[in-house]
Amino acid sequence: RLGRISVPELKARKGGEPIVCLTAYTTPMARRLDPHVDLLMVGDSLGMVLYGFDSTLRVTLDMMVAHGAAVRRGSERACLVVDLPFASYQESPEVAYRAAARLMAETGCSAVKLEGGREMAPTVAFLVARGIPVMGHVGLTPQSVNMLGGYRARGRDPEQREAITADAVAIAEAGAFSLVVEGVVEPLARAITQRIAIPTIGIGGSPACDGQVLVIDDLIGMFDSFTPKFVKRYAEIGDQVAAAAIAYAADVRARRFPAKEHLFGTET
Ligand code: KIV
Ligand code: NA
Repeated sequence: RLGRISVPELKARKGGEPIVCLTAYTTPMARRLDPHVDLLMVGDSLGMVLYGFDSTLRVTLDMMVAHGAAVRRGSERACLVVDLPFASYQESPEVAYRAAARLMAETGCSAVKLEGGREMAPTVAFLVARGIPVMGHVGLTPQSVNMLGGYRARGRDPEQREAITADAVAIAEAGAFSLVVEGVVEPLARAITQRIAIPTIGIGGSPACDGQVLVIDDLIGMFDSFTPKFVKRYAEIGDQVAAAAIAYAADVRARRFPAKEHLFGTET
């Protein structure tokens, strides 16, 4: 194919072949993931997995611009979505537009993602009407960790299930092209998927969702401060990095490294 998978193409995948998404934050990682996924998400999870923050609240728009542009340079096929970080969009639709427009212009992404439900629906409509595709994000929304009191799964009681369903419906009706459903009980993610006309992307959701996303550093065992229940580890790259450092340290201490083939001016 020529060019990237587009927002309308993804929207048309509702109920079809599952949409494969992963996060990416850097050019070399984007290069390795791009051929194999439909969508690369530059998530504000980078604050936790790359920068060591204990939440996503300290992530800035400048950080998202820098990492979004890096992922764009490392990809050519996947649709690229960049997160609006905390405090860059909640204040008003106009403030959200300015932040989203900056992400689009300076990273070349195809869409932005923002967290929130009914209260954000007017903002979603405002952006979409002005040419900025929006992906929604409901359920366990990490930017609201101080309101939620932690990262526990949501939707265990009927009031929460009704609230999250109303949020999902509002964001879909406001014109979002797809919706991340994070950290909710499985029957709720399934019911939301059946209820709304746009693709749902699950993370701690349901296999019934129209797509799945995971944080790449979780998937490959690079981030292990904690591992949420919904993560499946497909590799142990963190262990390999440690093993490489151990082997290098032993070589240096034993003067085995550098060896002849690494040296200049010793050819004979
Ligand atoms: O920040 C992030 O990585 C995300 C996805 C996991 C949905 O929001
Ligand atoms: Na995020």
